Amino acid sequence: MKRPRPVVALYPGSFDPITRGHEDIVRRGLRVADTIFVAVAHTSTHTKQGLFSVEERVALIKGVFADEERIEAVSFSGLLVDFAKERGAHLVIRGLRAVSDFEYELQMAQMNQELWGEVETIFLVPEVQNSFISSSLVREVAKLGGDVSSFVSPSVFEQLRLKLAE
Ligand code: PNS
Repeated sequence: MKRPRPVVALYPGSFDPITRGHEDIVRRGLRVADTIFVAVAHTSTHTKQGLFSVEERVALIKGVFADEERIEAVSFSGLLVDFAKERGAHLVIRGLRAVSDFEYELQMAQMNQELWGEVETIFLVPEVQNSFISSSLVREVAKLGGDVSSFVSPSVFEQLRLKLAE
């Protein structure tokens, strides 16, 4: 298969909210892709209790990457592969933090491969300091009054504070 140039990648997820771990993966992704769509899914395989709306999550991501013109924050409904086709993205980036992530990630990558033969999934690994961070733990710790300021960007931290004060 001919490699498409420029390389357009999709980094999909729930991002509720975006964490330092996600940021780490996006910045690593810029080493392999020219453009990355950080894509917030309206439908996640995992059913989760949402904190921020999809629109709010997209706005948070835009704020975090305001200085990076190669990154675009978007949302999508329906199948990931259909959105990837629409955006001309043949590469899907996912982060792998631990072995426990692997089974779910492998299944999704293979399902996506089956649905669209022209998509490749690559897994990037965050720095050790970021490998225990997850949005669900950030939400939980923040709700219970713990300090999450080192796990998210300052702009996200501020919005978390305001959201939890609602
Ligand atoms: O951050 P998450 O919640 O682990 O991300 C999961 C996500 C959003 C990447 C996955 O659920 C997804 O791709 N959803 C879009 C709908 C879809 O294509 N489902 C089939 C996936 S094989």
